[in-house]
Amino acid sequence: MSSSVLVVSTDPQGSAIWWADRVGDAKLPFDFTQAHDDPDGIANLKNLGAQIHVIANQKGGVGKTTTTVNLAAVVHDTLGSAASGYKHVFVDTPGNLENEHILAACLDIATDVVIPIPPEPLAFDATARTITMAIQPRGLSFRTFINAWDPRDGRADLEETEAYVDAKGWPRARSIIRRYKIHTRASAEGVVVTQYPKNRIAMEAREDYFRLALELGYGGGR
Ligand SMILES: Nc1ncnc2c1ncn2[C@@H]1O[C@H](COP(=O)(O)OP(=O)(O)O)[C@@H](O)[C@H]1O
Ligand SMILES: [Mg+2]
Repeated sequence: MSSSVLVVSTDPQGSAIWWADRVGDAKLPFDFTQAHDDPDGIANLKNLGAQIHVIANQKGGVGKTTTTVNLAAVVHDTLGSAASGYKHVFVDTPGNLENEHILAACLDIATDVVIPIPPEPLAFDATARTITMAIQPRGLSFRTFINAWDPRDGRADLEETEAYVDAKGWPRARSIIRRYKIHTRASAEGVVVTQYPKNRIAMEAREDYFRLALELGYGGGR
C-alpha cells in the first residue's frame, strides 16, 4: 500500500527540496519526487493514469509550493492509501519566467491548473501573463483562488482582487486560503497541514485547505 497522492517538484530553485529531505516521525504523508532536471520524467507522469493538477503562477512567493503540498496532504488524508497506484498528482512549478520551458512541460500533461493569487495588486500582471500566455492558449481547465488573505487587513484588497479576477472572466474558487503564521512556520519546518497540532487556530488554518480541495473536486471532504 502506498499513498494515492504524489507530489512532484519541478522548481529548480527548489523551495520544495526540504520537503523531500524530511525524515523521522513527521515524514510526509504522500509520495514526493523532484523532476526539474528531468523533462522526460515530467512527460511520463501522464502514463500514471492519475489526474494531474498543476499549481502555477509565474510570480514567486504567491504560495504555489505551500498550496501544492497542502492540497496533496488533505487529499491524501481523505483518500488514504491505495493499492492501485496514484489517483492525484500535484505538480509544483517554477515561479519565474526563466524556467518557462519547465512550466510548459507541466502544462502539457495537466488535467487542470490551480492558480494562487495573493490579494495584492502588485501580483496581478504576472498572474495575467501566466493565464493569457501559457494557460488559455492551451485550452486548459483552470481555477484561481485567493491565497494568504489576512482578515486583519480588512476586505478592501480582497474585494479588489476578486473584482479584478471576475472582470477578467477567470474562474475563481469561493474558498479563500487565509494567511496564518502557522503556514509560514510550517513551510520552514517542512510540516504539512494534516500534521499541525490539534489546537483551534491550526484547525482553522487546515480547514481552509480541506474546503478548497473539496471545491476543486479533489475529494477533500471528510
Ligand atoms: N496562506 C498562507 N499563510 C501564511 N503564509 C503563507 C501562505 N501561503 C504562503 N505562505 C508563505 O509565503 C511564502 C511563499 O510561499 P511559497 O509557497 O513558497 O510561494 P511560491 O512557491 O509561489 O514561491 C512562504 O514563506 C510561505 O510559507
Ligand atoms: Mg515555490
